[in-house]
Amino acid sequence: MVTASAQLKGRSFTRVADWSASELERVLDLADELKEQQKRREPHHLLPGRTLGMIFQKPSTRTRVSFEVGIAQLGGTGLYLSAGDLQLGRGETLKDTAMVLSRYLDAIMIRTFAQADVEELARNASIPVINGLTDSSHPCQALADVLTIRERLGRLEGVTVTYLGDGNNVCASLMVAAAKLGMNFRAATPSGYEPSSEAVEIAREAAAESGATVELLADPREAAAGADVLYTDVWTSMGQEEERERRLRELAGFGIDQELLDVAGTSAIVLHCLPAHYGEEIAEDVLYGPQSAVWDEAENRLHAQKALMALVIS
Ligand code: CP
Ligand code: NVA
Repeated sequence: MVTASAQLKGRSFTRVADWSASELERVLDLADELKEQQKRREPHHLLPGRTLGMIFQKPSTRTRVSFEVGIAQLGGTGLYLSAGDLQLGRGETLKDTAMVLSRYLDAIMIRTFAQADVEELARNASIPVINGLTDSSHPCQALADVLTIRERLGRLEGVTVTYLGDGNNVCASLMVAAAKLGMNFRAATPSGYEPSSEAVEIAREAAAESGATVELLADPREAAAGADVLYTDVWTSMGQEEERERRLRELAGFGIDQELLDVAGTSAIVLHCLPAHYGEEIAEDVLYGPQSAVWDEAENRLHAQKALMALVIS
């Protein structure tokens, strides 16, 4: 059993960028252990009696259920807090919310719009704050993604990950995690859909340290050639619903179908953070096909987040 040492206790996880490669690897190692224990139905109550508050300002299937089940499996309790039902929805500040919730809870998970709101909550909370997705990042998803890649391919260093489509929140966190962990990252997007320059800069700095590469490309076939992992996400993220028609037009040709997967080869795996839209960013036969690791990836949200909670919650 990997010991959840004191070093990470109390730390927030708001951006992959703030965690070192070895800290991220500790989460992955503990996740592997906890996954094994869960499969063997061995109790692993690392957080007895602790309570996680989960604030949602956007819908969720995976994040909500995996956090709520995860904290329960660790011996604690999850509390779903719809932002609209909190006083936050009537103008109570994030600062006061953070200060009050810190008196009741042992950690807060928040899914919201602005990254700055998560940072503000973390600054004012005396307990760890975990980012469950913002408009610009999805760090817990990136943990599950790299966990799945390591599990399937047996390594991270030197693996080539190609992300196709919209260079969004999921792309940004995966790119930074990949660069930190020594994976070569390519994003193939139409013009105007590149990952944010801030995320690219952070990833390139991390890649310079780890020896990895970060490439921005415009041709899906060029990006898929030689890739070990093809990754995609929805073309219309939460909050962008009014842009859907334009996005469908402009992102056409950047989805993963069997023809593109054949360019990567038979040993490549396919990932998608879900929810999926068949025939848009991913073809239905690829999603359910033999090279898809998507369902393991979804499951790994649970194991990765349990490890994260066990490491940061006191
Ligand atoms: N991938 C992911 O975060 O899914 P949910 O929106 O269902 O939580
Ligand atoms: N990019 C998507 C991810 C959903 C899990 C969104 O933000 O809606």
